[in-house]
Order: sequence, then structure tokens, then C-alpha cells
Amino acid sequence: MTRIHFNEVAPRDGFQIEPEFVPTEAKIELIDELSLCGYAKIEVTSFTSPKAIPMLRDAEIVMGRIRRVPGVEYTVLVPNLRGAERALESRADELNLVMSTSETHNLANLRMPREHSVKALSEVIRHVDGRTPINVSLSTAFGCPMEGEVAQATVLDFMQRFADQGVRGLTLCDTTGMANPAQVSRIVEAALARFGDRQITLHFHNTRGMGLANVLAAVQGGVTRLDGSLGGLGGCPYAPGASGNICSEDAVHMLATMGHDTGIDLERLLAAARRLPAIVGHEVPGQVAKAGPSTRLHPAPESVAQLRAQFA
Ligand code: COA
Ligand code: ZN
Repeated sequence: MTRIHFNEVAPRDGFQIEPEFVPTEAKIELIDELSLCGYAKIEVTSFTSPKAIPMLRDAEIVMGRIRRVPGVEYTVLVPNLRGAERALESRADELNLVMSTSETHNLANLRMPREHSVKALSEVIRHVDGRTPINVSLSTAFGCPMEGEVAQATVLDFMQRFADQGVRGLTLCDTTGMANPAQVSRIVEAALARFGDRQITLHFHNTRGMGLANVLAAVQGGVTRLDGSLGGLGGCPYAPGASGNICSEDAVHMLATMGHDTGIDLERLLAAARRLPAIVGHEVPGQVAKAGPSTRLHPAPESVAQLRAQFA
């Protein structure tokens, strides 16, 4: 039985792309509930430019008011030095730095070439100087919606450059759901062989229905850390065609029924997921919250009792 560490990203990846601003109070309440579900980590918000990501313009307030539960790490997305300073000020447990492995997506999302991002993030790493653990999320690692294929060697090269700077973790992000399980197996094998001493996390979007298949390929390949989003919310506003992350409760359900230890109280998580449509004002893609877990049984129709008697 493998211990799988789940990082809940709905408050960041999910809320950043919602058409309506999710009220600050509702964000705090949801994060406080998620804190009690057994997550290893929660990505609370991002310290980005409020012009670029207006939906998370309340980052300081949210970070200041959530009730932190011991044992849960509260991480935040950070694109630059300014963001890092805000994150440190807010006492984040981890800084999740972000850049894209595709030049076009990096220009669209972060408004600079990849090499500038490497330089900027390296400055952040030097500035933080070990005070807070750092994770680097590499977007479009399985393909870019504008450029197409991103060579595995390119992705591994960016991983190497940040591993060399001593970061604690590296996340491979399938920003618009282009990954397939065979590709996941290949890159996971290479990444764990080279960077097995780091925390390696996989971040999938279910844009093409391959999300849980990719989770399975990752876990079978030895990955023990996954990002997921409550209800399957999520998406990058600067990646055309982006849609939701893999749904946390569906992934937790799948892995738990397979015998893995996710650390998560599924019933509690499902209850949180069922409240989500009221918070965001629309239906969400997650399936297990609607169907109930596979252990939930339904009463048989009356005809079955009659047929049993008839065939007895
Ligand atoms: N926090 C708050 N404000 C910030 C900021 C930060 N981390 N970084 C920049 N800003 C502000 C600047 O103060 C400036 O404000 P002004 O126009 O009022 O003077 C404005 O944003 C532009 O700053 P600049 O340094 O020129 O940045 P930019 O316009 O080149 O944008 C990013 C670069 C990275 C800050 C911006 O593109 C961004 O935040 N992107 C978010 C990407 C993201 O989260 N995508 C989804 C997840 S993958
Ligand atoms: Zn994402």
C-alpha cells in the first residue's frame, strides 16, 4: 500500500479561472474545511499581479485568515520576486514557483521568455535562501496548446536547472490535458531516475478525459505526490482551451479503492465537494460526489424479491 500525498489546488488553479469572483469569505471557509480532510498540502492562492489574475486579488486576506491545521502545508503560487516577498510576509509554508517549458505559453502567461523566467526564479531562490521550501511547477510539460509537442529532454533540462539550485520539489504540469498514459510512464521513469531525491509531483488536467488514466500511470511508475482540484475545477486563463484539473475526490476514490493510503477522509471530502456548486454558482465535473462512492449500495427493486421467491 503506497502512501499518496495529495495537494488540493482548487483554491488557486480552480478559483483563478472562475467567471465570477469567489467571495473571500467563501474561499476561507472552503479552505478551512479542506484543512480537515487529510490533505498533505493545500495551494491556497497565488501572489501574482492582480491585473493578470484578478480572481485571486485577495491573496493576503485569505492567507491571513485561514485556520492552519498542523501537518497540512499551505503553499502559494509565486511568479516573481515581488510575489515571493508577499508570500514570505504571509508566512506560506512553501513557495510554488512557476514557469512554462514552452516559450509561447511562457510569453502568454508570464509575459517573458523562458530564459528570463529561469533568471527571475533563480533570483527568488537566492532571495529565499532556504528560509522556506521551494517547489517549481513546470507548465505545459506534456505539450503546449499553441506550440504542440514539448520535448522530454527540454522538460528534464529545466528540472535539472532547478534541482541544481537545491529546490525541494518539482511539479510536472499537464496544463491543458494533452498528456497520455504512455507519455506519463516515460517521463516519470526518467524524472524519478534523475530527481528521485526531490519531491516529484504530477499535475494533470482532465481536458480530454485522460486525467485518471494519467494518474494511474504516474502512480504505477512510482509517483507518490499528486495535485488535484475539488470538483474538477481549474484551468490557466492564459492557455487556450484549458479546463479543469483532475477531480480530487474522484482520484482519491480511485486510489483508495485500489488499496492506496491517501490520508484523506473521503466522506468528508465528498461533503465538501457537494457544497462546491453553491460556492461557484454552477455544476462541477466531479463524478463520485454525484454517484457516491462505489461502496454505496442501492436497494434492489421489489421485483427482485418476487423473483427470488419464484426461483427459490
Ligand atoms: N504581485 C502583485 N503585483 C505584481 C506582481 C506580484 N507578484 N508582479 C507584478 N506586479 C504588478 C506590478 O507592480 C505592475 O503594476 P502596475 O501596472 O500597477 O505598475 C504590474 O503588475 C506589471 O508588472 P510587471 O513587472 O511589468 O509584470 P508583467 O506585466 O510583465 O507581468 C507577471 C508579469 C508574472 C507578474 C504577470 O504576468 C502575472 O502575474 N502572471 C500570472 C500568471 C499566472 O498566475 N497564471 C496562472 C497560473 S499558471
Ligand atoms: Zn493547472
